[in-house]
Amino acid sequence: MTALLSTSAVGKHYGSGAARMPIIDGLELSIAKGEFVSLVGPSGCGKTTLLMCLAGLLAPSEGQVRFNGQLVTAPPIGLSVVFQDYSRSLLPWKSNLDNVLFGMRRVQLSGPEKRARAVEILAAVGLSGFEAHYPWQVSGGMQQRVAIARGIAAQSQLLLLDEPLAAVDAQTRADMQDLLLDLAKRFNQTCVLVTHDVEEAVYMANRVLVLGPRPTKVVREVIVDLPMPRDQLATREDPAFLHARHEVMALIRGMRQGKALA
Ligand SMILES: Nc1ncnc2c1ncn2[C@@H]1O[C@H](COP(=O)(O)OP(=O)(O)OP(=O)(O)O)[C@@H](O)[C@H]1O
Ligand SMILES: [Mg+2]
Repeated sequence: MTALLSTSAVGKHYGSGAARMPIIDGLELSIAKGEFVSLVGPSGCGKTTLLMCLAGLLAPSEGQVRFNGQLVTAPPIGLSVVFQDYSRSLLPWKSNLDNVLFGMRRVQLSGPEKRARAVEILAAVGLSGFEAHYPWQVSGGMQQRVAIARGIAAQSQLLLLDEPLAAVDAQTRADMQDLLLDLAKRFNQTCVLVTHDVEEAVYMANRVLVLGPRPTKVVREVIVDLPMPRDQLATREDPAFLHARHEVMALIRGMRQGKALA
């Protein structure tokens, strides 16, 4: 079976000469259709840079990215990104509803159908009644949910999410995790989630890829052998959850201590 998304020996550096800064080196990954894969790694290791390369928004310095077997040289149709910096990714001159509709510009539905779907997805992220508001008229957490709604509404085969829940409070965060899982299933979306939160990484995914320090690459794959749908209480108490969490956390802590000692 061909992977939906794959890389071969991807490398990326910024700058040149004395200012050359290697960010990614020899990174290999492969994501199959229908997967939910979490990416975790030390702060500043290059996660956002990697997502940009996967999305065709940045050209890798070495190696290749393939989406549906095609070499990625520009943002491919069928792939969307929810950016870490959501406040800058929403269009301030468009209402929340129009921001979501903008994400749907390639979706094959009639105007009224698109509108109905956009309203439905905004309701699913808890923003009923805020369709006509502009992003700058709602809170940071709400803006982040508009950005998530826009990413999901695009009905892409692959959704890349860069710390989408970072600005959301703990209770809403748990609800949003379940909502994202539910929507990914409903719209048949393969997802790659970057998160700092190891528990979230394990809770959401069927596989966690642990990235090493800069220049980064995948240093470990942790399979999360837990049934879907997930449950905020039962899943988090399952021995398989605790085992996967332990493995990922031990790796990340090891990297941090290694850095502190270096
Ligand atoms: N356009 C750029 N030009 C030069 N350096 C950059 C650029 N973008 C990022 N960097 C640097 O590359 C490194 C990796 O950044 P990146 O944002 O990819 O990491 P990250 O893992 O997403 O970080 P965080 O955990 O803070 O989200 C950082 O040291 C950053 O300062
Ligand atoms: Mg980042």
